[in-house]
Amino acid sequence: MDDKDLVQVAMAYREHAYAPYSHFKVGAAVLAKSGKVYGGCNVENSSYPVGICAERTAICKAVSEGEREFLAIAIVAASASPCAPCGMCRQFIAEMKIPRILMANLKREIKAVTLPELLPFAFSEENLQ
Ligand code: THU
Repeated sequence: MDDKDLVQVAMAYREHAYAPYSHFKVGAAVLAKSGKVYGGCNVENSSYPVGICAERTAICKAVSEGEREFLAIAIVAASASPCAPCGMCRQFIAEMKIPRILMANLKREIKAVTLPELLPFAFSEENLQ
C-alpha cells in the first residue's frame, strides 16, 4: 500500500466522523507491518474533552486487534494545508513508534514527516527508567 492509498482510506473513514460540535471531520488510517490497515475518525462528545481524535481511534482499533508494529499513519481533514496531528495524538503515535506520518487534506496534498520531526524530544518509556 502506497502513501496515496493510505490517505484514500483515511478519507473514507473521515466520512464516518462524528463531529456535531466542531464540524471538523478528521479521518486516519494506520498501516501495520502485518499489511493490514485500520481506519478511524474523530468521535466528539457533548462533554467536549471526552471526544477522541481520528488518529487515536485508528491506533486503538489496531492495537486492540493485536497489532504492535506499524509502518505509517495517514491523517486527513478539510484543512487548507495538510492536517497536522494534535499533541496528544503525537504522543500516541510516538508510543507505537510509527515511523512515517502522512499529513493530508482533501486537495490530496500530502506532507510526509518522520516521528522525530513530528515529536522531537518525546517522552517515552526510557524516561520512566
Ligand atoms: N482532531 C482529530 O481528530 N485529530 C487531530 O489530530 C486534531 C483534532 C479532531 C478533534 C475534534 O473532534 C476536532 O478535530 C476539532 O478539534
